[in-house]
Amino acid sequence: MATTFTPRVFSGIQPSGGLTLGNYLGAIKRFVDMQADDFETIYCMVDLHAITVWQDPADLQKNTRELCAGFIASGIDPEQSILINQSQVPEHTQLGWIFNTVARMGWLNRMTQFKDKAGKNRENVSVGLFAYPALMAADILLYHATHVPVGEDQKQHLELTRDIAAKFNHDYGVDFFPLTEPVIEGTATRVMSLRDGSKKMSKSDPSDMSRINMTDDADTIAQKIRKARTDPEALPSEAAGLADRAEARNLVNIYAALDGKTVDQVLAEVGGKQFSEFKPMLSELAVEKLSPISGEMARLMEHPDEIDKILARGSERAREIAAPILKRTYEIVGMVGASS
Ligand code: TRP
Repeated sequence: MATTFTPRVFSGIQPSGGLTLGNYLGAIKRFVDMQADDFETIYCMVDLHAITVWQDPADLQKNTRELCAGFIASGIDPEQSILINQSQVPEHTQLGWIFNTVARMGWLNRMTQFKDKAGKNRENVSVGLFAYPALMAADILLYHATHVPVGEDQKQHLELTRDIAAKFNHDYGVDFFPLTEPVIEGTATRVMSLRDGSKKMSKSDPSDMSRINMTDDADTIAQKIRKARTDPEALPSEAAGLADRAEARNLVNIYAALDGKTVDQVLAEVGGKQFSEFKPMLSELAVEKLSPISGEMARLMEHPDEIDKILARGSERAREIAAPILKRTYEIVGMVGASS
């Protein structure tokens, strides 16, 4: 009979740059919504994943704390959820190694994120970048997480996580790791670049004008929205009218997500307007929704010791769940000393 697992949510974000509106609307806002009494929620700053490509040490430290501040300022309650920094819970790396021996070269070779990130430079990227998905599987399976909210771009990594769990269970003849369900974000929450509606808004885009950072002030937000690429047409009055208008669709999507409405609801109000009229509305809404968050982030960033304490406490709680699962894994694999 299949084992039943406690409902448990796990997700992670790389501290590889500042936090953007894309992270907030596409991920963190949902993480906040998933906090519920009958769900255990664990949210992780995946610093070990971040260093699979070069990170300046001082920036990594700052970005990790800023990400933690962003989680809290957006409404993740560090009492209700468990907030951790990946490197502070060594069991991630330990299980990651076991999974390096379960995952096949061919599986990892097919990962599109690896192919994209490595590009033509395959010989010269880090071994860590190649093994990245096995560590990600370890992040999730270390807690026997049952649900993982992620973006569409992570779907393949989630499938790999299931493949690793299934192969481990099969090879060792156990029913130990769950086959985790991805909870894929809807396209409505996928925030695109302000300069190019076909590219995801990203903290690694060389142009700062392409994104709204969660630390941007009101003037910067207004300026970026004013300069955002659009087309010369007026707004349609229903979502279907945005089908071939990536940039227009993106701005309306952002508006709808910030306002907690559907795209059709927004278009019922703003259909027929020109962007010259819609953009100031969007700026005003963005500033209204984001400034309390950026204010709270700035306050927290003035107290890095408080952030560090929250992370230390989070890793203690996380290890209470992780340690027995890692121990059992070692026993299953046949490692001497695991049961002592
Ligand atoms: N690979 C994810 C991303 O780039 C980050 C990540 C690492 C993650 N470990 C995870 C997401 C575990 C969900 C669960 O977005």
